[in-house]
Amino acid sequence: MNGFSRWSKEQKLVWVCENLSSDARQARALFESFQYDDEWQEILDGFSENTLTNFPMPYGIAPHFVINGREYAVPMVIEESSVVAAASAAAKFWKTRGGIKAEVIETQKEGQVHFYTTAPIYDIHQLQEKFLQHLEERTADFTANMRARGGGLKGMIMERIPDMPHQYQARFAFETCDSMGANFINSVLEEAADILLEFLLERFPEEEHEIVMAILSNYTPNCIVRASVECPIEDLGNFPSGLTANEFAAKFHRAISIARNDVFRATTHNKGIYNGIDAVVIATGNDFRAVEAGGHAFAARDGQYRSLSHCTLQDGHFRFWLEIPLALGTVGGLTKLHPLAALSLKILGQPNACTLMEIVAATGLAQNFAAIRSLVTVGIQKGHMKMHLNNILTHFQANVKEKSEVLAHFEDKVVSFGAVRNYLERLRGSSSHGQDEIL
Ligand code: MEV
Repeated sequence: MNGFSRWSKEQKLVWVCENLSSDARQARALFESFQYDDEWQEILDGFSENTLTNFPMPYGIAPHFVINGREYAVPMVIEESSVVAAASAAAKFWKTRGGIKAEVIETQKEGQVHFYTTAPIYDIHQLQEKFLQHLEERTADFTANMRARGGGLKGMIMERIPDMPHQYQARFAFETCDSMGANFINSVLEEAADILLEFLLERFPEEEHEIVMAILSNYTPNCIVRASVECPIEDLGNFPSGLTANEFAAKFHRAISIARNDVFRATTHNKGIYNGIDAVVIATGNDFRAVEAGGHAFAARDGQYRSLSHCTLQDGHFRFWLEIPLALGTVGGLTKLHPLAALSLKILGQPNACTLMEIVAATGLAQNFAAIRSLVTVGIQKGHMKMHLNNILTHFQANVKEKSEVLAHFEDKVVSFGAVRNYLERLRGSSSHGQDEIL
């Protein structure tokens, strides 16, 4: 396996199919069927290493979003059934109640240079000031483009790492305008690390110094967006399962309070929010791992992991909002390179990074509203299993006639894998036992 990365794609394909699959021909056919023509494939292969093929995910559109008075159809890439349907249903619900408001609160990102020094640092603030001045002069050329756009290095503080003798960090604040900024930040930090080492060696030649690492932080509590919806409680209308607007509002509020106070519920609650957020983040070529990591850290910022959304009922008014960190870009990274990411941004009207933050937060809020609305009324399984019914029918290779009979039969019944199998068996008049019950 030495030198695997230097093998040609054909060599890798042959090796994987022949050594790691029970049916080499079938594996090869599958890998090949998900390849594009040369031009697309070359672009996709350029994103990663040792690529054999592509892994397709459904790309859907959630219409009906009105965000800050403007209509959007939001592209979403997600494999879970019901998510796109739920987002657009919630967006439609709020469309007739003033739409979703969204507002970027701050846009600064952070990165750190971690360093070890035995230098006797009595006044860290003085050291910090001198170094910052020095750094700005030395990186002026490097950051000129970003500064011309209004971004760049916005400040730095030095701190001791508690409980680690001689261990410090220089924490840098950045503004990266319409780019997510990871490459800019990491390049500046690595440059800053070299300059810091020289700076320390010059001033404290007798002491020991080491740069441990220089890297951006995916925790971005100063890059925050808020999305909210509100209306008089009576305008919420009546709900399935017979709840009145007042009963619904009270139950919804209680559900949010539970997620604010219980970590098990908070995790699932926030997962639902990220069902919406990740789907748009992926569709626009942004980094969903960075977004998730930052969001979950933010959810635990007071020491307990809590719901990212909030709800108040005051003076007959329902208010529901979400405040989250989102580090996104609309230039750079995959946003232009990935043909579908570029198209998603076009569909969204070529937003700048702040507008994209608003759209993404609004989608997370809509998703959360839809999930809680289902949970406190009819439960999620009814809708979810109805959507999943199609997957079950595909699994059993149901034909058009069978599909329409099964759909009609389960219109008013609980869908489960076993129930669908049994019904299909009866329809087909034959037995197909042996499938796993839970899929
Ligand atoms: C499922 O993917 C997401 C939900 O569990 C979210 C929630 O419970 O709030 C429905």
